[in-house]
Amino acid sequence: MKKILSLILIVLILYCGINLVLSPHKISKIKSNIDPLTLVNYNHALGDYKINLVTFNGFKVCDIIYNDLVDMTNAAKKDGITLKINNSYRTAEDQRDMFDAKRQTYLNQGYSYEKATYKAKETAQLPGYSEHQTGLAIDFSNEGHPDDNQKIWQWLKENSYKYGFILRYPNGKEDITKITYEPWHFRYVGKKAAKEITKQNITLEEYLKGK
Ligand code: DAL
Ligand code: ZN
Repeated sequence: MKKILSLILIVLILYCGINLVLSPHKISKIKSNIDPLTLVNYNHALGDYKINLVTFNGFKVCDIIYNDLVDMTNAAKKDGITLKINNSYRTAEDQRDMFDAKRQTYLNQGYSYEKATYKAKETAQLPGYSEHQTGLAIDFSNEGHPDDNQKIWQWLKENSYKYGFILRYPNGKEDITKITYEPWHFRYVGKKAAKEITKQNITLEEYLKGK
């Protein structure tokens, strides 16, 4: 009996130890001074603020979102959802390369330069105008649920506000965001704003206009 109890204890300690090593730890010192409500979009260029990047699961993010991202990832896991990141912080050069590649795809399809630029702008911002450059935006991946994309987007849509994130480019709001629906792109705005924006079914642009 004693042996069994010791064995259970060892297994328990090992389990807790492994979990502690594997799960990301919270950070205590925030060095960025960017306001989480900062608007960066097609006609609002990046401003001048200090962004301190930290690494979460191998991806760079602004330190102000880190702890809530840890909480959201853990909460999702409890609900059977594996939250994986596809893309987070991008430099201006990364953004330019991405934009140019999109434009090139349209040029290859025979569009004029002007029309190809217009089409690329429906899904990507020009360098200097992407919130990915703030480290506050995350593109989640459906890698954990390849057979059921909707499951992960649905979970994020319903729960991300609890952790300060919003679905940034909703379906049907293209006239405001100027970006086509992106079920994977979530933007950190802080818990209070995220709750209001999500409950009112509005965009960050509309929220800030009403302030
Ligand atoms: N895909 C989003 C809109 C960006 O380029 O920032
Ligand atoms: Zn994105």
